[in-house]
Amino acid sequence: MGNLYGVIGHPVKHSLSPAMFEAAFWEYDMDDEYQKFEIAPEQLGAFLDGIRGNDEELARIYGLSVTIPHKEAIMQHVDALDAHTKAIGAVNTIVKDDGSERKDGRVLLKGANTDWIGAKRAIEEVMDVEGKDVVVLGAGGAAAAIVYACVQMKARVTILNRTLDRAEAMAERFSGEDAPVVKAGLLTDLMNCRANLLVHTTSVGMGADAERSLVPVEFFKRGMVVFDIVYTPLETRLVREAKRHECRIIPGYKMLLYQGERQFELWFRKKPRTEKMEEALLTHLQS
Ligand SMILES: NC(=O)c1ccc[n+]([C@@H]2O[C@H](COP(=O)([O-])OP(=O)(O)OC[C@H]3O[C@@H](n4cnc5c(N)ncnc54)[C@H](OP(=O)(O)O)[C@@H]3O)[C@@H](O)[C@H]2O)c1
Repeated sequence: MGNLYGVIGHPVKHSLSPAMFEAAFWEYDMDDEYQKFEIAPEQLGAFLDGIRGNDEELARIYGLSVTIPHKEAIMQHVDALDAHTKAIGAVNTIVKDDGSERKDGRVLLKGANTDWIGAKRAIEEVMDVEGKDVVVLGAGGAAAAIVYACVQMKARVTILNRTLDRAEAMAERFSGEDAPVVKAGLLTDLMNCRANLLVHTTSVGMGADAERSLVPVEFFKRGMVVFDIVYTPLETRLVREAKRHECRIIPGYKMLLYQGERQFELWFRKKPRTEKMEEALLTHLQS
């Protein structure tokens, strides 16, 4: 029997991570399994103690993807965090170190953030943002990882949000000594901004809001890069309108794909066949 991996969230039933990782495991002929774990906030501590060894079945878990609403709360339950993850303030990956390679033999749960790496890779595939203007719409958890990635790539970032305080707090947090100052504003300031890259990170464009877009079509310019991280539907109204104005598109699912690729590398210390993970994701998104 192989080890167990999975995604924890609440709700977790719509997660596409199982499809993506099952495809990756299949390619390597691995007998590990990947499952969904529906965990309410009040169960989180006990669940992680189970992984540390308090529960025979959960002790089989060697890695987790972490989704809403646990990304921030889980930070207080892990034993180690890298510097990027501390700066972003959210964990989307747990890696178990079972102690077998260390003298003290203690089981450690390490928290990491691969969302920023997923966003960075998706952007780098299409453009070099160093010294370029990036406008990020939204100031939630996903925006934090994307703003961090853009600051790492030395872009000039402006965060626009419905709630100004949140945009201002995030801009202040990511305005470092070595990085350009991150600016903040309201969504209604968009027409006064310049953007080589526009990133949309709110939930507008999906579910009940599927036919809405926060971006007036007058904002689009030929050649501007538009990255809508909403991937259900695969083509949002924002993407449709941006294409019509000859913008270049970064598909939202690419961030999900590349954050998963990095998770696989952290768990197994080798690269997955990312194209197989992509095929599986697209099959699910198109069905
Ligand atoms: N592609 C990927 O890999 C990926 C990864 C993570 C998340 N996502 C997607 O990104 C979206 C945001 O996730 P999150 O974790 O950042 O959520 P979050 O932390 O709850 O933040 C939500 C953001 O959306 C804004 N917002 C919500 N409803 C709005 C509305 N009607 N009009 C204007 N702004 C609105 C909020 O503004 P206020 O501050 O004013 O409330 C906030 O900035 C979700 O759709 C999620 O599925 C995609």
